[in-house]
Amino acid sequence: MVDLRGRDLLKLLDYTPEEIRYVLDLAKDLKYKKHNRIPHRYLEGRNIVLLFEKTSTRTRCSFEVAGLDLGMGVTFLDPGSSQMGKKESIADTARVLSRMYDGIEYRGFSQEIVEELARYSDKPVWNGLTDQFHPTQMFADLLTIEEHLGRLQGVNFTYMGDARNNMGNSLMVACAKMGLNFTACAPKELFPEAWLVEEAKKIAAESGGSVRLTEDVYEGTKDADVIYTDIWVSMGEPAEVWETRINLLKKYQVNKAAMANAKKDAIFMHCLPSFHDEKTTIGADIAKRFGIPEMEVTNEVFESEQSVVFDEAENRMHTIKAIVCATMIDEPIDLG
Ligand code: CP
Ligand code: NVA
Repeated sequence: MVDLRGRDLLKLLDYTPEEIRYVLDLAKDLKYKKHNRIPHRYLEGRNIVLLFEKTSTRTRCSFEVAGLDLGMGVTFLDPGSSQMGKKESIADTARVLSRMYDGIEYRGFSQEIVEELARYSDKPVWNGLTDQFHPTQMFADLLTIEEHLGRLQGVNFTYMGDARNNMGNSLMVACAKMGLNFTACAPKELFPEAWLVEEAKKIAAESGGSVRLTEDVYEGTKDADVIYTDIWVSMGEPAEVWETRINLLKKYQVNKAAMANAKKDAIFMHCLPSFHDEKTTIGADIAKRFGIPEMEVTNEVFESEQSVVFDEAENRMHTIKAIVCATMIDEPIDLG
């Protein structure tokens, strides 16, 4: 049986397909319990801390609700309300907190920080997003695909947009691990780094999946089962990059034509938040400055029947609960 007790989740590259499968199955079980109000306070009396150097809605709330549902105490810390960053290094913060808490979530900038944190902490550390990877999002995305399409193996998955950000990198690895056919449909300037592509191709060769990169929108979206996108400028990037990024990515917008080129019952996915209208301050500002009212996805596609973005958002909570539970529990749960 898969045993993840005491493990960190720093990036999906560190997990085997069997371990990923176990987390997904545990998430299904926990989702069923939550929907049917079956108590699952497996971690009663324990405590976790959430360190956020970048903003968040889904990841923070998922860890908070998951922790509370599992019977734990949860503390949220950001640089504005703690010594973290300004007066105390992340490494010192982690060494202090791992004496008080039973698990640590970290969202921030470089991947090295979360890896360092894990080296200093003897409690599980979960990566809640770095510039390079977003592993907790992957479990939610895989679960959502499986719920909607009934399978992972052989699914044609197309990621459009900034393919070398945390989402592009992570999705390529997640698809490779679980036997999906991954396509990054992006300008070559925004392809994932070569070493990671090579690594993903090796992993895909074992799982029966595949990895390809294309600049051609028609070829990239043809017969896709899933079309996925993310914002064009990520947290931590300077505002000056908007103009270049818009010029590079405007033809990779997920719109009606892209969806029509995919399979008839294809689904649209997005990790969120999304700029699909002018109802945000950044969305309104970009619309005014560059004359584009919608960015990575049109409002039409975002609001369409094919869009599963809110199922995906809900699944963040069930899957984060599963990873927290699997890494912290005293006796592993046998899912049969
Ligand atoms: N998808 C995601 O990580 O959302 P948040 O930034 O709101 O946590
Ligand atoms: N690429 C995005 C993902 C947000 C969940 C960012 O890093 O801002």
